Amino acid sequence: MCGIIGYCGGNPAIPRLLNGLKKLEYRGYDSAGIAFFTESGIVTVKAEGRIANTEALLRGDYENAVSVCGIGHTRWATTGRPSDFNAHPHRSGAVTIVHNGIIENYKELKAECEAAGTVFRSQTDSEVIAALADGYYRENADPVAALQKVMERLKGSYAVTALFEDRTNTVYGFRRDSPLIAAETPDGNYFASDYIAVKHLTDTYFLPEEGVVAELTARGIRYFGPQGEQRAPAPVTVTESNRDDGKGDFPHYMLKEIFDIPEAIRNTCRDHVLEGLPSFDDGLLQRLSAAGRIYIVACGTALNAGKLGKGYIERLAGIPVSCETASEFRYFPPLYGKNDCFVFISQSGETADTAASMRMINAQGLYTVALVNTPNSTIAREAADVLYTRAGVETAVASTKAYNAQGALLFLLALALGMKTGRVSAADAARKTGELTDGVPAAVRKVLTESARIRELSHRFCTAPSCFFLGRGPDFFLAEESSLKLKEISYIHCEAYAAGELKHGTIALIEKDVPVIAVISGETIRAKTINNAAEVKARSAKVLIVTDRAVPEERETADAVFTVDCPAEELFHLCAAVFFQLFAYHTALLRGCDVDKPRNLAKSVTVE
Ligand code: G6P
Repeated sequence: MCGIIGYCGGNPAIPRLLNGLKKLEYRGYDSAGIAFFTESGIVTVKAEGRIANTEALLRGDYENAVSVCGIGHTRWATTGRPSDFNAHPHRSGAVTIVHNGIIENYKELKAECEAAGTVFRSQTDSEVIAALADGYYRENADPVAALQKVMERLKGSYAVTALFEDRTNTVYGFRRDSPLIAAETPDGNYFASDYIAVKHLTDTYFLPEEGVVAELTARGIRYFGPQGEQRAPAPVTVTESNRDDGKGDFPHYMLKEIFDIPEAIRNTCRDHVLEGLPSFDDGLLQRLSAAGRIYIVACGTALNAGKLGKGYIERLAGIPVSCETASEFRYFPPLYGKNDCFVFISQSGETADTAASMRMINAQGLYTVALVNTPNSTIAREAADVLYTRAGVETAVASTKAYNAQGALLFLLALALGMKTGRVSAADAARKTGELTDGVPAAVRKVLTESARIRELSHRFCTAPSCFFLGRGPDFFLAEESSLKLKEISYIHCEAYAAGELKHGTIALIEKDVPVIAVISGETIRAKTINNAAEVKARSAKVLIVTDRAVPEERETADAVFTVDCPAEELFHLCAAVFFQLFAYHTALLRGCDVDKPRNLAKSVTVE
């Protein structure tokens, strides 16, 4: 969350800072700003809203500003509403900083600084970092020592870059529980909260250790430990990285990424299919298949994909699986045992709650597997084993292709575990693998061809302020993801219910023309969910059924039925998800929402 950039080099800094911020904008976009050295000192330019607002200010007042060093920030507000004042950078005396994270003890630190005479201009927790640093700097005029002292005082998570007024053309950086990389490139030297900002310049970077202050100048980067001793961190060499191909001819990243799904599934499966059968490291399969229970821990869409995975693994491999919300897991963990294994799913590989949950389990010496989409990300680096989805860069804030790729990889893993536990024969595994690798992409492509009809349905159904989704078993898991997708980009209030649970309260909210969308697949519960749809229809709801097989009872009950052909019942959800992704997309467009950057959200949630 919050994008951070820092630059020192022989080239104009301002366009480099802005360019870096644009690459990091997925991390937050409610305000932005930069600070840079000029001949007459540090200049700060910042504005509420998108980076374009900051650019407009720069064009007006600083058209000819020359600078070779500065810092920048794009914000996702935590403490203090989005505003010009709360936008970073923040300055206190000689020190100007940008910050990503949350300073948990900022109130007491702020009171202390106020008592010493500091006047705060923003409502943020971040400004206290500048105030403290300025105070310590005035004591001994040593930026590194001042920042070390600041770190000793801060509780919470942070990645910070800082400028000191009289340390011309130097940027300092430090971090804790929040990503910040340093990179020496032919273009100049950089700090960034994500490698993606410098990917076009280098395949090597450094990750300053926690407790270290990095000092960046045009000449190079030095690292200082708590006693001021110089450190030499090991370089990280990126052997693979997702490539951002832009959005091509598509009007939005989200639409492009939905259309990427067949390829995302194919690429993901390619790593784990050998001669038509699922293929994983035997040690990993050994450990997971011997687990008393597998815990899948994740947030948001990744958690919803994990729920599909729970269904696959339990059914195909007979291993009990629990899905846990990472933010709950880290503070209220279930009673797991030492034979249990833990799978952490994350598109970004940086989600704070997921990473913290994984560290907690790693610290206990238990087995962790990361299932991530972003190579070299924190979660990928720190897990005992890593499995990659190959969905490619996902830029739209609402996750789409990553979900389908995660589901596909979990299905293959479940098949492999099923073979290991003896519950799936090689012949069945081969057939099911083919259904996934060939059948699902074909079925997804068919849904994509029906985008116009899906748009028409979205316009017909999403006219009310609330919308309900129903399903049972795995249909419910998809209902949850579909509800999340629609609410996050269209701002319609959406809720998903296990279909049988609706009548225990929520049915009170059903009135004329409230849209209810039922997900129905497989034969065992078809009649039951149709009955639940009929119950809301009897109360004048507008009912849409999304199904694998439109039976007459569905047509009689619903106002509309959409059929998703799929290669096998158990793979319906991976295919039907695409209907709901397009449904959400078209609804959001109809309502004039910013599809790729929905309000209040961020792609990578690096604060808890
Ligand atoms: C944010 C994003 C969601 C995503 C969730 C988990 O909320 O907006 O799209 O599902 O984080 O992210 P991760 O990168 O861990 O999958």
